[in-house]
Amino acid sequence: MAVGTVLITGGTGYIGSFTSLALLEHGYEVVIVDSLYNSSKISLDRIELLCGKRPIFYEVDVTDEAGLDKVFEAHPKLDSVIHFAALKAVGESAENPLEYYRINVGGTISLLRIMQKHSVHNIVFSSSATVYGDVTRFPNMIPIPEHCPIGPTNPYGRTKSTIELVIEDFINAQRNNVKKAGKPFEHWNGALLRYFNPGGSHPSGILGEDPLGVPFNLLPLLGQVATGQREKLLVYGDDYPSRDGTAIRDYIHVVDLAKGHLAALNHLREKNPGVRAWNLGSGRGCTVFEMIAAFSKAAGKQLKYEVVERRAGDVLDLTANPTRANEELNWKTELTLENACEDLWRWVSNNPQGYRQDPPAA
Ligand code: NAD
Ligand code: WQD
Repeated sequence: MAVGTVLITGGTGYIGSFTSLALLEHGYEVVIVDSLYNSSKISLDRIELLCGKRPIFYEVDVTDEAGLDKVFEAHPKLDSVIHFAALKAVGESAENPLEYYRINVGGTISLLRIMQKHSVHNIVFSSSATVYGDVTRFPNMIPIPEHCPIGPTNPYGRTKSTIELVIEDFINAQRNNVKKAGKPFEHWNGALLRYFNPGGSHPSGILGEDPLGVPFNLLPLLGQVATGQREKLLVYGDDYPSRDGTAIRDYIHVVDLAKGHLAALNHLREKNPGVRAWNLGSGRGCTVFEMIAAFSKAAGKQLKYEVVERRAGDVLDLTANPTRANEELNWKTELTLENACEDLWRWVSNNPQGYRQDPPAA
């Protein structure tokens, strides 16, 4: 019998597919809803290839309440939701903020309304380190703890900080309303997971990130340089006050990140903590030049780059203080930056066209 049944929105996407795999491997039944806006159903085949189990899949948009309602009705054993489905391109969010608020904030409100209707009490939410913004405006906030004041610098980040507030208000109201009505206590809980910079792929080389269109994150771009799909990487600024002049990020292997979701889900189901934010990061900062060197080593060739102006909105340093997640969720990163680069290299060299080709021979 399954440990529990979990709905994963955005479960065919990058982080969602790894989390679906981790849950299936730990005995959960997984039900995915995804609009396939930025993903492929082939990820479901790859998950099945890796663990011998297949998530149940529905092509449903998170803003479609009637569609969500039908999925919840079909799965009365659902007790938790992990909510990944969102738009995530920072630049695009500045051009089309209404669409970002409609899908990210509106989609979450629809989901919470259907959770409320069906008494599904636990939500794990994909937040982002981007909610912190430029923490150099405060003294002694690097590495960044969860109590650091938030201040996102773009509409995408503001959808994430808004959703954190919506979830907090909703969960607290659910807990309080039940108390007031004198009904038996209902264990409503929310985990706000603030991921730092996810990267890497499955060590098998058959599950990975398959961004449709032009990627904007450092690791997939380096992957394209390594496979020759892109001539060189543009390094956005080498005049930051860091050890080599380039900006610092906390890169986290996607397999570790998926395990962080499992840890948070188990914590909500077992400890009933209410709403709580946790940083998911390694606590180690890496510069852009250090990342180019690490990926060049993994790929066995020196990757070309050119230094250009800083990218608007970028900040100097986003490194996590992951102590809270280490202590409360009993979770910490186990894989290194080198593992992330080696696994990503295996993925891009085996699947240069992402999921749009046959899987490599095992
Ligand atoms: P992704 O684009 O690979 O996954 C998102 C999934 O949501 C995709 O499968 C997409 O098709 C689906 N989706 C989009 N709009 C939808 C809609 N209206 N209805 C249903 N499904 C929809 O992105 P990812 O990198 O896996 O990110 C997952 C989550 O983590 C997102 O919420 C993102 O904001 C957050 N996040 C990502 C990063 C990162 O760097 N990748 C960092 C921090 C937070
Ligand atoms: C990393 C570093 C760039 C590309 C973004 C979102 C954040 C989160 C993760 C979702 C930076 C440098 C990059 C390039 C470069 N996503 N860089 N040349 O900006 O830290 O975070 O993705 O929540 O919200 O903002 O990640 O991978 O884009 O950049 O020099 O071509 O690499 O300047 O220092 P970022 P990134």
